[in-house]
Order: sequence, then structure tokens, then C-alpha cells
Amino acid sequence: MSDNTPAVLCQNVVKTYDTGSQQITALQGIDLEVHVGELMMLVGPSGCGKTTLISVIAGILDQDSGLCRVFGEDLLKLKNDQKLKFRAQNIGFVFQAYNLLPTLNAAENVSIPLIINGMKRREAVRKAAAVLEQVGLGDRADALPAQLSGGQQQRVAIARALIHSPRLIVCDEPTSALDHETGMHVLELLKAVAVDHSRALVIVTHDARIFGFADRIAQMDDGKIVRVQQSQPSNNPGRTEQGAHDVT
Ligand SMILES: Nc1ncnc2c1ncn2[C@@H]1O[C@H](COP(=O)(O)OP(=O)(O)O)[C@@H](O)[C@H]1O
Ligand SMILES: [Mg+2]
Repeated sequence: MSDNTPAVLCQNVVKTYDTGSQQITALQGIDLEVHVGELMMLVGPSGCGKTTLISVIAGILDQDSGLCRVFGEDLLKLKNDQKLKFRAQNIGFVFQAYNLLPTLNAAENVSIPLIINGMKRREAVRKAAAVLEQVGLGDRADALPAQLSGGQQQRVAIARALIHSPRLIVCDEPTSALDHETGMHVLELLKAVAVDHSRALVIVTHDARIFGFADRIAQMDDGKIVRVQQSQPSNNPGRTEQGAHDVT
């Protein structure tokens, strides 16, 4: 991998869902590049294809056509076990619906990526408790998901995406269930931990309060990227409703 290999490269990515009765083209030729060291936000109306796009980027869903590479790796070309390994080592995903395992407590849920990567369970759970501390849930490590509020479950999901220090973190609406202060704290943490000279972060969001954290904002509509904006450095995160301006 050369130094300027992008964290994410999408070229003409198309994805159609076949529901039997109808075909829905959720992605109609997406071109997108996310650089290493960048926080890219993805915005757009409900149903425009945001979740589908990040699912393709994270290798959870296969596109029908077009190219998608993560750190130079074309996930479509990997065999299943290679793909699982690549994802386990390189990608953290925060699902919109959290996807916590209901019978495991918070620390056990957070420890899963480490266990998949071969760490001993006891050590993994100990590390998980430390990451839960970072997201303000140090005292809830033993709680089951059903015993946590939506916002707390969301923070467990974020801790789980961070714990194995993946090179790419992809988050689907990570602040939707968080109050303002907690949302800002989580974004600061995500940006500090997940963005550096070798990492990148892609966040789907409706939350204008966090736009100021972005380096660039890609706007989607009807399965396409219609605009990419540079975030304004003068905008203080949390203070602005208009966190971006056009560069085109
Ligand atoms: N599993 C699925 N089966 C059929 N249609 C789907 C499925 N997932 C999403 N869609 C459709 O694809 C389009 C894009 O959905 P999605 O990517 O979830 O959008 P967003 O995250 O921007 O709200 C929508 O029209 C949605 O109804
Ligand atoms: Mg969605």
C-alpha cells in the first residue's frame, strides 16, 4: 500500500435490493474518496442510501457493480474467511440499532472484537471495562443491554467499535440517542481515538450539532452523492447549525 492510498475508495458503486415485488436501486453510481486522517460525514434524507453505502464500505453488503476499496483492499475479491479477518482487524462499525448481544453484559459486548482477534477472554473483558470508562459507562460494565438506556447502549456500541483500534471506523447515526453534552463528548472521543495519520472515520448523521467535527461532508440524495463540502475550520463544534460551506 502506497502512502497516499485512500482509506476508502468508491467508484461507480451500484446496489439494488430485490424485494420480489420490486427492485430498489439504493446506490446509483457512488464515487467517494475518504483520505487517511480524515473524518468524513455523510448526510442526506432518510432512504437516500446512507446505510447501504456504509454497509458496502464495511464489507457487510456486496455491491452489484463498481469498485470499493478499503486501504487498497477490494473486499469483494477476498474469500469469506479472509474478508472476516480483514474486517475484524481493520474496521469498526457502529450500527444504528446498536446490535448488542442481549445475553452479554456491556463489557462482554465491548470485548468481542478483541476475542475475535485472538485475545484471551479475561484480558479482553478487562480492556473493555477501561474503554467503557472512556465513554462514561465505567460503572455499568456488568449491565445487560436491556438494563441500559438507548443512549447508554449507543455508547457501548461505540466502545465496541473502538476497542481494537481499527484503521477505519464507520458509524451510523452515532449521536441520535445521546443528549447534547454526551454527543459532543463521544464525538471528541471518536475524533481523538479514530482519526490520525493512519486512520479514518466515516459518520452518517442528521445531527447538525456535530457537523463542525467533520473535515468534509458528503451530501447524498436518491442513491447519489450530490455534493462534497469542506468543513469550515472557524466553526466551533456544537455551536453552529451551518457547519459547512460549498467548496465547488
Ligand atoms: N434490506 C432491504 N431490502 C429492500 N430495500 C431496502 C433494504 N434496505 C434498504 N432498502 C431501501 O433502500 C433505500 C436506501 O435505504 P438506506 O440505505 O437504509 O437509506 P438511509 O440509511 O439513507 O435511510 C431505501 O429506499 C430503502 O427502503
Ligand atoms: Mg440509515
